[in-house]
Amino acid sequence: MKITKTTNSRLKTTDFASLPFGRVFSDHMLVCNYKEDNWQEAEILPYGPIAMNPGTQVFHYGQAVFEGMKAFKNDKGEVLVFRKDENFKRLNKSAVRLSIPEIPEDVFMNGLDELLALDSDWCKEEEGYSLYIRPFIFASAECVKASASTEYTFIIITCPTTKYYGSSINVVIEEHFTRATKGGVGFAKAAGNYAASFYPTKQANANGFQQVIWTDSIEHKYIEESGTMNIWFRIGDKLITPELSDSILGGITRDSVVTLAKDSGIQVEQRRVSVSEVVEAYKSGELKEVFGTGTAVTVIPIDSITFRDNKMSISTIENSYAMLLKQKLQGIQKGKIEDIYGWTVKAPSKTPVS
Ligand SMILES: Cc1ncc(COP(=O)(O)O)c(C=O)c1O
Repeated sequence: MKITKTTNSRLKTTDFASLPFGRVFSDHMLVCNYKEDNWQEAEILPYGPIAMNPGTQVFHYGQAVFEGMKAFKNDKGEVLVFRKDENFKRLNKSAVRLSIPEIPEDVFMNGLDELLALDSDWCKEEEGYSLYIRPFIFASAECVKASASTEYTFIIITCPTTKYYGSSINVVIEEHFTRATKGGVGFAKAAGNYAASFYPTKQANANGFQQVIWTDSIEHKYIEESGTMNIWFRIGDKLITPELSDSILGGITRDSVVTLAKDSGIQVEQRRVSVSEVVEAYKSGELKEVFGTGTAVTVIPIDSITFRDNKMSISTIENSYAMLLKQKLQGIQKGKIEDIYGWTVKAPSKTPVS
């Protein structure tokens, strides 16, 4: 792998005390191109512009997929990457659905290792910090025919981050717009899914909500997810989350929380959840907690859900499942709690010889 190190690091001039999410980038990026039916040799370069012609296919047809994952620095100064094998698998699952050639495991894993070794100083050890890792693939052939591209580019960039939202959020149930539909690409991290969600989300924002709760596209009766998070309801002492389908993104945090909750003795149900079940549980006082899970937020309590004109406020409770699961998850991610699941993998600290 060819590595070109930056001669102009931005590390010292970056204000780590104020990091707007997703706007600050580390010094290097990994780039790998696909052409003539093969992924070529990957390269690490200083983070910077990439030249593309206006006829590049991704601009026209949105043939692009991405991932979002995180690394954390433990108190020994080691960088721990959380469940990168799952993100790798999901990236390729998304790629297949979008008719993009799958990334070979060594390109992804070795590239990530080299990149993290170079930019490990961007991952801060202090509480609340992490390094957000964004791998993505897009159609890069110069061609405006509406067809799958013959060339692709795979890139990994990283962003130092602190908290995503505030400490909790208010959401509204969306009954008109749809994020994903049966037979569509909702289970994939396809760029277009996000483009389609911005307009309804902006409307919700204008009405004072941080996010929408997406419902099924056919009847708008069943809850799917909230914004870019999977959603959870504690009804009585059971923890319920919508079962995965082709219109729900199978969150890696969701999967981790299922395991952590079960291993904490909490009864977990993955099944269809209707809006009316949630409203009834609220009315009867059984809706004790609602929270979202995702890489960016880990576990975040939802303060209120608005359905039509009714705001259901959820008060904080003692022995909160959300807090327990958040502590366990973050403890494992930061290397403070023993990782009995093998979820965290140490990134090599020095650039391996390539
Ligand atoms: C639509 C959607 N749902 C759920 C999630 C949560 O997934 P994960 O826990 O893997 O970050 C995300 C974020 O990646 C998302 O974009």
